[in-house]
Amino acid sequence: MKNTLLFLIMLCTGSGFLKGQDRSQMKQLIDDQFHFAEEQYKVLAKNVPAGVMPKTYYAKSGKIETSDTKWWCSGFYPGSLLYIYEYTGDTAILSETKRRLSILEKEKHYTGNHDLGFMMFCSFGNAYRILKDEKYKAVIDTSAGSLATRYHPAAGVIQSWNSSKTWKGPVIIDNMMNLELLLWASAHGGDSKYKQIAVSHANKTLKNHFRSDYSSYHVVDYDMLTGKVIRRGTAQGAADESAWSRGQGWALYGYTMMYRFTKDQKYLDQAIHIADFILKHPNLPADGIPYWDFNAPGIPDTYRDVSAGAVISSALLELGQYSTGRSKDRFVSAARKMIVSLSSGQYRSKPGENGGFLLLHSVGALPLKSEVDVPLTYADYYFLEALARYKKWYL
Ligand code: GLY
Repeated sequence: MKNTLLFLIMLCTGSGFLKGQDRSQMKQLIDDQFHFAEEQYKVLAKNVPAGVMPKTYYAKSGKIETSDTKWWCSGFYPGSLLYIYEYTGDTAILSETKRRLSILEKEKHYTGNHDLGFMMFCSFGNAYRILKDEKYKAVIDTSAGSLATRYHPAAGVIQSWNSSKTWKGPVIIDNMMNLELLLWASAHGGDSKYKQIAVSHANKTLKNHFRSDYSSYHVVDYDMLTGKVIRRGTAQGAADESAWSRGQGWALYGYTMMYRFTKDQKYLDQAIHIADFILKHPNLPADGIPYWDFNAPGIPDTYRDVSAGAVISSALLELGQYSTGRSKDRFVSAARKMIVSLSSGQYRSKPGENGGFLLLHSVGALPLKSEVDVPLTYADYYFLEALARYKKWYL
């Protein structure tokens, strides 16, 4: 017990790279999480009927909620299975992956919202990277074409949701994540216009979505014919002027990823500013797992959002790759602290529980009273990605 405590203290502080025993204990922690995930996702697989995807689990009723493949999260379950397969080589996990990819493939033609990147790149992007089958690359290319149909040249942005009574031409910060699909497709033989669209969208978002403290609005409503900003607000945050935590995570991840593909310094600068906003925020708890909104009413007596912690930890690990010296140490040790917290009994399910999901305590959309304090597929996905990234880059 005393040793475990000492280990946790060392992992949660200190420099980016661990040495000696700390390093091997971090290696062990990652190994434990992947082997837990291997067994836990077999429980989840049994709970989810063929033809649909897992969404969440309600502990009170013991019920799994599923979704069709048009739901924005439909790529995360196959994506998580792929990270688990990559680590463990488990062929039962691979078979389950292929079953789910086959029901998802048809969405390569979907143009109903901007979520094609989440849906088709977290799934088929990882499938192509790991399994090297050209048929998956073709799916990615078609999906990029579908996403590009939502681009408005006059405004220079991809429209996130369709027009409604509330929003005319809404663009949400989450949309930064979908640009990876476009950039990857362009860089791998796809149409060069996909990259131009992604760069234009990232530039407009950089100009219009951020406050002077580098926190991000959730929604910017555009007149798509002129590019004029109509208003800025929120749908999932605590208030129009608040910093919705997962949105800050999408922004951090998005601009770090933009730098990966373009090497444009302004994207890296933006990512560092966003990381500073998050890591220096007085409302960021000591264990590194944010409340659902940095300005949520009732802090500290309100919900954490584990999904935000998972996204931020994965993004910080990539940011560490583009940083040196003390900045690198700061980003990597903050990410490590989050990974250690997420792996603890505070946030991680016990084997066989939680419907088969890995992590507890995420928040989907609190103002809509939807998915509050539950497991979510994307929390699991970015947690596994963070574990894999840590192993690849820092061990
Ligand atoms: N992209 C939707 C969300 O983050 O909840």
